[in-house]
Amino acid sequence: MGRFSNKVAIISGAGSGIGAAIAERLCAEEIAGLVLLDKNAEGLKAVVDGLPTNAKIISKVIDIADEAAVTDAVEATFDTFGRIDVLCNNAGIACSRKLADEQDLSEWQRVMAVNVYGCVALTSQVARIMSQQDGGGAIVNTASVAGLRSGAGGNAYSASKAAVINFTQTAACDLASKHIRVNAVCPGLIETGMTSPFFVIAREKGVEHRLGERCELKRAGQPHEVAAAIAFLASDDASYITGQALAVDGGNSASLNMPGMKV
Ligand SMILES: NC(=O)c1ccc[n+]([C@@H]2O[C@H](COP(=O)([O-])OP(=O)(O)OC[C@H]3O[C@@H](n4cnc5c(N)ncnc54)[C@H](O)[C@@H]3O)[C@@H](O)[C@H]2O)c1
Repeated sequence: MGRFSNKVAIISGAGSGIGAAIAERLCAEEIAGLVLLDKNAEGLKAVVDGLPTNAKIISKVIDIADEAAVTDAVEATFDTFGRIDVLCNNAGIACSRKLADEQDLSEWQRVMAVNVYGCVALTSQVARIMSQQDGGGAIVNTASVAGLRSGAGGNAYSASKAAVINFTQTAACDLASKHIRVNAVCPGLIETGMTSPFFVIAREKGVEHRLGERCELKRAGQPHEVAAAIAFLASDDASYITGQALAVDGGNSASLNMPGMKV
């Protein structure tokens, strides 16, 4: 029996990167039902086509910032499977790196709509179902080290991920009595669709080794390494863990990494 046998999971942002790796990991751990959400139809189809057929898989092309579309997706999941055990709020977008005196509020609104409100809408609707079922459920949000401090993304992106971390804490406290655990992961630099331009440029310049060199493990991470942490938090192995934000960052957030202090 795998850790997710007989369980049903929803993953947002499943058409690429970390979301695709979560889907692969849950299939490898014998998940019974998967609902994969993404706004990118082509990416979603490619991921579904590459997954093993042991799970019943439904894919839905939606914009996670569209509350009505989120409602439809959650209802369709419940109609098909009759339960939802795991929710991975993973869809996210980056933003420009304009300085604090150059901010564009329309960009903030879109980043917040996708990264925060999409997560809140899915959590709220799925938690209503989890709270009515035996065993409750587990929710894992993909935040970021950018939500812990500056230096890993634009201002709006960082603020949105800080909001995800804080919502993880408030939701965990609200939902604990309903047997729903809520946790987050904070990835460092991971090679995915979102970050591929950095990797492409670094490879072109022959400086790929420099990506991730400021973290203690001296390398960038891979999506499957984040998916492994998410699967742990979503599983019963994490049955006494809620309200936490686990950095999956090669030790990056463990150190101020001040140049010259250890030489
Ligand atoms: N790659 C990194 O270094 C890194 C670091 C920290 C956190 N993260 C977070 O990891 C999560 C996954 O990103 P990734 O790195 O795998 O990037 P990615 O671009 O490869 O995947 C993100 C997926 O989310 C989907 N998506 C974006 N907006 C959406 C919307 N409005 N509705 C539905 N789907 C939408 C995209 O189409 C894409 O398939 C994001 O929340 C991101 O902020 C990534």
